[in-house]
Amino acid sequence: MGKRILRTKLCDMLGIEYPILSAGMGPTLIGENTGAPVDLVVAVSEAGGMGVLGGSGYTVDELRDAIREIKARTDKPYGVDLLLPANIVEVPEGAAAGPQEIPLSQALEFMPQEHKDWLKKIKAEMGLPDVELMVQMNTTTMRPKESIRVCIEEKVPLFCAGLGNPGFMVEEAHSVGMKVLGVTGNAKNARRMANSHVDIIVAQGHEGGGHTGRIGTMALLPMAIDAASPKPVLAAGGIGDGRGIAAALAMGCAGVWIGTRFLATNEGGALDINKRKILSSTDEDTRVSRAYTGKTLRASYNKFHDLWDSSGLGPVPFPMQVIISSALISGFIKAGKDDYVGGLAGQISGLIKEIKPAGQLLVELVEETVDILSRRLPSDVIAK
Ligand SMILES: Cc1cc2nc3c(=O)[nH]c(=O)nc-3n(C[C@H](O)[C@H](O)[C@H](O)COP(=O)(O)O)c2cc1C
Repeated sequence: MGKRILRTKLCDMLGIEYPILSAGMGPTLIGENTGAPVDLVVAVSEAGGMGVLGGSGYTVDELRDAIREIKARTDKPYGVDLLLPANIVEVPEGAAAGPQEIPLSQALEFMPQEHKDWLKKIKAEMGLPDVELMVQMNTTTMRPKESIRVCIEEKVPLFCAGLGNPGFMVEEAHSVGMKVLGVTGNAKNARRMANSHVDIIVAQGHEGGGHTGRIGTMALLPMAIDAASPKPVLAAGGIGDGRGIAAALAMGCAGVWIGTRFLATNEGGALDINKRKILSSTDEDTRVSRAYTGKTLRASYNKFHDLWDSSGLGPVPFPMQVIISSALISGFIKAGKDDYVGGLAGQISGLIKEIKPAGQLLVELVEETVDILSRRLPSDVIAK
């Protein structure tokens, strides 16, 4: 069978063949690889979609290196995703002269006493070993302005903001030929981003892996499309095969932004244990928890969720909660307590039964979508 054609206005806008983006995905815990590393970006972009680098866990220098590596390995367009939460406090410039990384045990000293007491108690009760991770003080999340500067200097074709409204940087990004994308979980913020001239808006439903809102994809999409009009909206949350893509396009989306399905590929950056959890999941095996980052976040269900819920503690603000969750999860991994470990993943995990190369997955997604969109309606559907 010849090569399929699946084009929307998004393809012209971004200079890509298919309107499919692999989502920006960061690491689950400190020190872990990003979920969407250079290998995944290159594989997806080379196959005709657009790969988006998960830049949130990188240091500013690593971000620049990763961007340069992508450029060296493909001449196709790509994206970079960073987290720009509204309440982020930039680490002061002067702090750059201080230590660039501190041991996790030292970082924990800055946590509230009741959180420290709880951690100590759990570690003692469960016999968890100390794992000495280093906490980077100059990650892109702690230094958003410097990180944006790197993206602008490197003229990244598509800048993506996983949290926050990137409207403030649109003018400068446009001046060097970049496009800007924002991710939202509700119609109000879709309108805000459209009004601040963000080029592309991703509407991510509650089903999605990682940080997630309260509204399901099916309900969110038409409202986000109306709110963002005439800006193009990409569907996210719960898309795992051509059926989901065809439905999103039928609703009026210009394309899709797919996370969990691309995480479960050869090139996806998740730990093996996290990929195994996705493969063994049913539709009911993910949960939303604040245990990981302090914000509502969907991950493969595991006993860490129950442990946190029964602590009676409130989360410390993003991104500090990551220090607490990383201290515990790294201990669970080292102690082989797999039922307390599970990475960020969406409800569509239940559909995923095989890890495959990302380029092959992209071709299959395109073929399935085209088959659905070009076939006649089933005989039990009457439409004239
Ligand atoms: C492992 C993982 C890490 C993620 N990290 C980020 C991130 O750093 N930035 C971001 O914008 N979204 C992040 N997300 C959300 C994705 O970008 C995307 O919106 C979501 O995965 C879409 O839903 P799906 O998983 O059902 O495809 C992450 C998702 C996963 C599964």
